[in-house]
Amino acid sequence: MYNVKQLTHDLYWIGGNDRRLALFENVYPIPQGVSYNAYLYVGEQTVLMDTVDHAVAGVFFENIAHLLNGRTLDYIVVNHMEPDHCATLADTVLRYPEAKIICNAKTVAMIKQFFDFDIDSRAVVIKEGDSLTIGGHAFTFVMAPMVHWPEAMVTYDATDKILFSADAFGTFGAVSGSIFADEVDFENRHLDEARRYYTNIVGKYGPQVAALLKKAAGLDIQMVCPLHGWVLRGETIGWFIDKYMTWATYAPEEKGVLIAYGSIYGGTENAAEILAGMLAERGITNIAMYDVSATHASYILSEAFKMSHLVFASSTYNAGIFSPMEALLSDLTAHSMQNRTVGLVQNGTWAPMSGKLMQQAVSAFKNTTVLEPVATLRSTVSEKTYEELGALADAIKASF
Ligand code: FEO
Repeated sequence: MYNVKQLTHDLYWIGGNDRRLALFENVYPIPQGVSYNAYLYVGEQTVLMDTVDHAVAGVFFENIAHLLNGRTLDYIVVNHMEPDHCATLADTVLRYPEAKIICNAKTVAMIKQFFDFDIDSRAVVIKEGDSLTIGGHAFTFVMAPMVHWPEAMVTYDATDKILFSADAFGTFGAVSGSIFADEVDFENRHLDEARRYYTNIVGKYGPQVAALLKKAAGLDIQMVCPLHGWVLRGETIGWFIDKYMTWATYAPEEKGVLIAYGSIYGGTENAAEILAGMLAERGITNIAMYDVSATHASYILSEAFKMSHLVFASSTYNAGIFSPMEALLSDLTAHSMQNRTVGLVQNGTWAPMSGKLMQQAVSAFKNTTVLEPVATLRSTVSEKTYEELGALADAIKASF
């Protein structure tokens, strides 16, 4: 049965939720599910804004058929070609062969890579800044390269002041009930997952996101319709843009300490716990601790974008960094982590190497200071280690 949500006099959300998928992009756990959003204008002409993942194809096609009620689908706008939005594009074309596809030249090339339907006869190829008036709506197309693929663009409906933002302003989490962020407790229930979505999916492309935000700043935007998660309107828009600008510029959101530890038999974990207690004694209480073997890296990476100070505590393993910690540091580097203050704790029963190697790994973070000392333990925390942890806690406090 169809399940649509009306957004304006002639615009509808026609997406769907997937609460069964274990790993988004086959990488990221999504315990709260995910929504695949698509939108349909049913005005003087009918315009579909993006399609959806295969997982929600059933309800998506029922939604279109219900709203069209026998009318033709005139246009499909393709803002982003990743299959979580375009897997059903060929099926849509099969059902509505008269629809013209509005997209840019890079998208045409990608459509040919993913599908074998005839795009050339259907394509209305637009470029940066082009405008088209369709069905009483004046649409302008703004390229958003690498937010999150090179062909990505956003579409602005200047008539109703609506921005179709593609992956930008998306959120992990299925939409339960209201589609509007201002009608749910977004900050408490969904901000963490919004941050985890942004940092992991688009976090590497901060400069490109900042460029898009700059372009968007010149527009009067009353509503933002992303491809995942909740629709923004009113004050929520500015609030969320501020969050995006913080993340896109790699500025810490909060003064606080992330302690990520990789421990084989508990010695390194003990050192991390002791350090956390020492920080609390020094008045630092905004501390988030994660065992890198127990928590998926996407959560820790998201926390790293939030916190001003990062502590990595790791055992030595195969003469290197304990593998889950090595993977985390590599993930942080791949996502352009920068502008942080870092503390290190190393462990090695016979040849501690992880401190030196973590220092090398962290040197890839731009504008990042590594504090002294690197606290060392050999198997378990000794009196000497305890003193070094105290000195590291002092250094963190002094840099706060
Ligand atoms: Fe939600 Fe980059 O696709």
